[in-house]
Amino acid sequence: MNEIIEKEFITSDLFRMKVKAPEIARKREAGQFIILIVDENGERIPLTIADADPEAGWIALVAQIVGKTTKALSQLEAGDSIKDLAGPLGNPTEVEKYGTVVVIGGGVGIAPAHPIAQAMKKAGNTVISILGGRTKDLVIMEEEMKAASDKVIVTTDDGSYGKKGFVTDALQKLIDDGVSIDLVVAVGPPIMMKFVSKMTKEYEIKTIVSLNTIMVDGTGMCGCCRVSVGGETKFVCVDGPEFDGHKVDFEEMMHRIQMYSHQEKEAMDKFLSK
Ligand SMILES: Cc1cc2nc3c(=O)[nH]c(=O)nc-3n(C[C@H](O)[C@H](O)[C@H](O)COP(=O)(O)OP(=O)(O)OC[C@H]3O[C@@H](n4cnc5c(N)ncnc54)[C@H](O)[C@@H]3O)c2cc1C
Ligand code: FES
Repeated sequence: MNEIIEKEFITSDLFRMKVKAPEIARKREAGQFIILIVDENGERIPLTIADADPEAGWIALVAQIVGKTTKALSQLEAGDSIKDLAGPLGNPTEVEKYGTVVVIGGGVGIAPAHPIAQAMKKAGNTVISILGGRTKDLVIMEEEMKAASDKVIVTTDDGSYGKKGFVTDALQKLIDDGVSIDLVVAVGPPIMMKFVSKMTKEYEIKTIVSLNTIMVDGTGMCGCCRVSVGGETKFVCVDGPEFDGHKVDFEEMMHRIQMYSHQEKEAMDKFLSK
């Protein structure tokens, strides 16, 4: 059992938790995730480790309520416990001194982008972060990202905060302004990662994306997280979660994520009617 030490809502459907998990806090690296089960009847869901304190023995999770399990998790409070937490899982981000790294976080993807920006900065890179949200309230962790970056650009789809437009507009502007970019790391909705990768492919800028497929076992056995990368079958849980954005078949991935939408809706309706 893993005790929740702190919990706060960032917006009405986005929350952050600090959970006691000393072993994971000690071992985790940027880019890695955990799989949790909320209670004995729960399904497994993956969440990125947004932050950790190895001395104090906690990890931080930031989750968006999209269905039954994230809803159930959001209803737990400090002092409650999460039944099972496995991790750290997945390969850590390949952190090197590349030069100028643009870290792009979209919506809840800003949380997983944060440790990546921190690690890239620590390795001596110039880090420019682009944070995007549909509207002002969905731009999270701006202060933390400022601390981990040389420059932060914020975009909102509706223009309620930062520059009006998509993260790709901000990236295009950097390119047009002549900023020499050595690496782009994009974490967020699949559609955002797809368009970022499309743009950087044109300019031949190496691009890493962190994929959020459906996962069950997290061990490469069940096949749920299968994606096609460069024509080869890969499993996000053990081969990823990060891949070359120019090689990912995003269309197939998006199609597979929608595969259980009927059952997901049914589970949520049942949960809410209890
Ligand atoms: C490696 C990894 C790291 C992740 N990190 C985070 C994180 O830090 N914070 C966070 O909020 N989410 C993260 N996700 C997504 C998270 O796992 C899903 O939102 C969660 O599994 C949904 O469970 P649910 O029962 O609440 O919703 P469900 O009822 O299972 O799904 C509800 C809706 O969400 C969509 N959905 C389901 N699974 C995913 C998914 N994996 N990605 C995108 N949409 C999905 C469905 O298509 C459906 O429309 C991560 C996913 C992966 C693979
Ligand atoms: S989650 Fe089962 S193979 Fe990756």
